Amino acid sequence: MNMSTVNSAGVDLQVFTYGDEKKQPIVLVHGYPDNHSVWEPVAKLLADKYFVITYDVRGAGGSDVPRKQADFRMALLSADLKAVVESCIGERAFHLVGHDWGSIQSWESVTADGPLKQRILSYTTISGPCLDHMGYWLRKRTLNLSASAKAKVFKQALSSWYIGFFHLPVLAPSAWQGGLDKLWPKYLKHREQVEEPEANPTQGKDGKHGVQLYRANFRNKLINPEERHAACPVQLIVPTRDNYVGTQLFEDLHYWVDELYRRDINANHWVPLSHPEKIAAWIEEFVSGVDKGKMSGALQHARVRPERRKLPLYGKTAVITGAGSGIGRATAFKLAEAGADLVCVDINDEAAERTAELSRLLGASAWSRKVDVGSAQAMQRLAKWVEKELGGADIVINNAGIGMAGGVLDTSTQDWDRILKVNLWGVIHGSRLFAQQMVDAHRSGHIINVASAAAFAPNRKLAAYSTSKAAVYMLSECLRGELADQDIGVTAICPGFVATGIASNTVYTGMSDEEQAAKRAKADALYQRRNFSPDEVAEAILKAVLTNPALSLVGAEAWTTRLLSRFAPALSRRVARIDITP
Ligand code: NAI
Repeated sequence: MNMSTVNSAGVDLQVFTYGDEKKQPIVLVHGYPDNHSVWEPVAKLLADKYFVITYDVRGAGGSDVPRKQADFRMALLSADLKAVVESCIGERAFHLVGHDWGSIQSWESVTADGPLKQRILSYTTISGPCLDHMGYWLRKRTLNLSASAKAKVFKQALSSWYIGFFHLPVLAPSAWQGGLDKLWPKYLKHREQVEEPEANPTQGKDGKHGVQLYRANFRNKLINPEERHAACPVQLIVPTRDNYVGTQLFEDLHYWVDELYRRDINANHWVPLSHPEKIAAWIEEFVSGVDKGKMSGALQHARVRPERRKLPLYGKTAVITGAGSGIGRATAFKLAEAGADLVCVDINDEAAERTAELSRLLGASAWSRKVDVGSAQAMQRLAKWVEKELGGADIVINNAGIGMAGGVLDTSTQDWDRILKVNLWGVIHGSRLFAQQMVDAHRSGHIINVASAAAFAPNRKLAAYSTSKAAVYMLSECLRGELADQDIGVTAICPGFVATGIASNTVYTGMSDEEQAAKRAKADALYQRRNFSPDEVAEAILKAVLTNPALSLVGAEAWTTRLLSRFAPALSRRVARIDITP
């Protein structure tokens, strides 16, 4: 780390840099009542790849303390940032990160027309709204007579009590001299979950003079906000247990920022100290996405798309197996229209990518993965990829399946293996791996397993297929019981005959290739004549995700077989003796 002093219109600022100055610069701006040291853990993690610059803002740490309140105005704080970057990197462009007041004041440089706006390549903002945006947010909510809008203002006012306190003369500054500075590390440890907060030798000074930031800017900005738009991509990191800055303050941010990414972290306000690895990783991922012109999957998923915000599955990630055709593809489109982002999985990668591509046209972020659902390793890799890239799945549709016709005696061991691997093991892997992730992350979710009307319909010529589907149905019922307490829904979907590609791919055991081809053609013609669309199954799947029934029967055949097996089992057994294959 190197230390230097930079003069900004008569105020000396202490500046700290980490890493090689030839690398891409990132400037980290601290908040209140901190100084540059709040960024030290993050700066050290970023220093390998970037030239990291931090500084003590005026009034804090080793920087000068201007005498007048007006000397803490926003425009001067922005001029300080300009002086610091000019001294460290000349005219080069840079990435900017702010926490708390560092974020509030950085918004000024990011949004105000001036020399810095075009030089800021990206902005990561943590727990510090733009005061102008906040002014408009307040106006809109206070003019809006709805009870929920008023409640939001009231909630924010409650968590912002300290701002009023900072406006009190004498009392607030003297609190820092009356011992609050000594108590501060304990406060960070017990209230803010910072594991080992280090004592800050200038804590009293940082706390005492920093209140001027609030006094010089809050009133004026909130009463007379200006329209302020950002020119660069913005990553908004929201600690969801923040005791000071309510998440509601960011609901209108997409109005001011065209390219906005939002990431929530289950943490308190001081995330640079409590979660430095996570914060450094997110900064690096965002900065490198901006530099390369291509965002990671996780960031594409985190992109705020206001036009989709009202959709029922907005923000959810759905994994769909067998998404390259039939029911899987129709389900992908239905969930995309309902707001979900998708991972389209299929053994046929071109078909999966085509589904993803078409889903993107419907507004979803969508990825495709080539996976054989019957392979435990491949499914494990898929689950890891989803967890790492997209933060895990909220909805899993275990749909991939193959058809097989033939009796128990005609079906070879290899054929049994083949169908059970896809139809049963595929569902077992998908259910276990993704349910475990949901449980570990305390995330609610939904698992949909596509079984079939055949689950209730014994037939002499559909032995392996019906067995696999009956097992999927029972697996789903068991899993539902197991996960009910974890707020994870499980549904078995049982469609009847659906016009998809399945009939023309069904294996007819114990037959020559020619005989199989003839059977497939006949079966396919029957399915097409029945003309029951996979859209109807997709609609039932969407409904199941929203309402969580244990079982969803789709189509007349499904209802008939279910009712027969429950209320007329003897008749169902007689039907089982008939060869239903064409
Ligand atoms: P489809 O043949 O149109 O689609 C199945 C998809 O699964 C294909 O894209 C295929 O490439 C993929 N797939 C096959 N094996 C795979 C594997 N090992 N790993 C990954 N992907 C694999 O069939 P359809 O009709 O859309 O079937 C979907 C599910 O619905 C299946 O589980 C099927 O048993 C079930 N179903 C279908 C009915 C129908 O009448 N079409 C009726 C009841 C249930």
